[in-house]
Amino acid sequence: MEKKERPPVYYSEYLQLDKILNAQLPESSKEGIKADDEMLFVIIHQTYELWFKQILFELNVIRDVFKQTNIPNNSPDIYNSVHRIKRICKILEVAVMQMSIMETMTPLDFLDFRDLLRPASGFQSIQFKIIEATLGLGYGQRHGQNYYISQLNQQDIDRVKEAEAQESLLVLINKWLERMPYASAPFVTADFWREYRNAYEGTLQEAEKINLTAFDKLFIDETNYPAERRFSITANRNALFIMLYRDYPLLHLPYELISSLLEIDEGLSMWRHRHIHMVQRTIGKRVGTGGSTGAEYLRAAADTHIIFKEMAELTSFLLPRHALPALPEQLVKNLGYN
Ligand code: HEM
Repeated sequence: MEKKERPPVYYSEYLQLDKILNAQLPESSKEGIKADDEMLFVIIHQTYELWFKQILFELNVIRDVFKQTNIPNNSPDIYNSVHRIKRICKILEVAVMQMSIMETMTPLDFLDFRDLLRPASGFQSIQFKIIEATLGLGYGQRHGQNYYISQLNQQDIDRVKEAEAQESLLVLINKWLERMPYASAPFVTADFWREYRNAYEGTLQEAEKINLTAFDKLFIDETNYPAERRFSITANRNALFIMLYRDYPLLHLPYELISSLLEIDEGLSMWRHRHIHMVQRTIGKRVGTGGSTGAEYLRAAADTHIIFKEMAELTSFLLPRHALPALPEQLVKNLGYN
């Protein structure tokens, strides 16, 4: 094949630096007010938005994998997805650390230009809201729904709504978990889950006996299954099974996938709490530039916007390895490399 001539690539053109480096327009300079920290404020936010863009890019690649009706066992898809989720977690680690650069701006420095920003706020970060929606946060689960509608322009509301209307990663992971065959017949029978329940009951302390009722609701009794749950009873069983028997080779990757998803929530939560600390330190009990109750709103959002909460809670139902029911011989073979 004949090689096509390509013009030489030039660093600043490749990176579109003329656009990026000319995109810092502090309000204070427009107003002729001296506020030397506004440049940092702009650059930090822009840096975050670039990382949010990368996170969304990764999430969409991962979602495309899980949109397949069947992911072949011997394809690189799951490994690559785990790899990308781990990358997202690393980005979130950096996002948390970057808050300390923001904190070099003292409350007094912020007051130099703060009022010029109203009513803009990080709350209007559409990429952040799309990340939440792509992961699985529905409109119904959002804290402060009216606030969300009132603070965004129509175009941005439409963008978030569009993200909410698509199949989220949570929905796709639920479907993937439901397809995992090993925690039901013909691999294990109902006796397996009965045996598990008995063993679980035996490990409960007096104050934890209530957990058995929860166990029955979440894993055994389809008719009592809480309607509000995002993961189905089958997905719960399979996720728990993966967590319990993850030492078997075929379950290594599924386990990595589950735990890396939980790490995304952990990373986001660390970011939220770091942001709250920074907000309290910078504005104390004042309302935000976006008009919310400030730290109070942020704390409620941090408590509510946990995407894979149901999956994280499954750890309450684990058993120590020595108490696990032994798996049938054929299943052990299926879960190994042979
Ligand atoms: C001095 C620095 C900052 C202060 C005082 C601050 C303050 C606040 C406050 C009070 C809110 C609640 C909404 C409102 O009433 O405005 C908020 C939301 C938010 N801020 Fe900041 N922020 C700061 C820096 C940042 C940075 C650097 C980012 C990075 C992108 C950011 C991203 C966000 C996001 C995504 C939300 C919405 C969070 C949610 O809804 O859970 N903020 N911020």
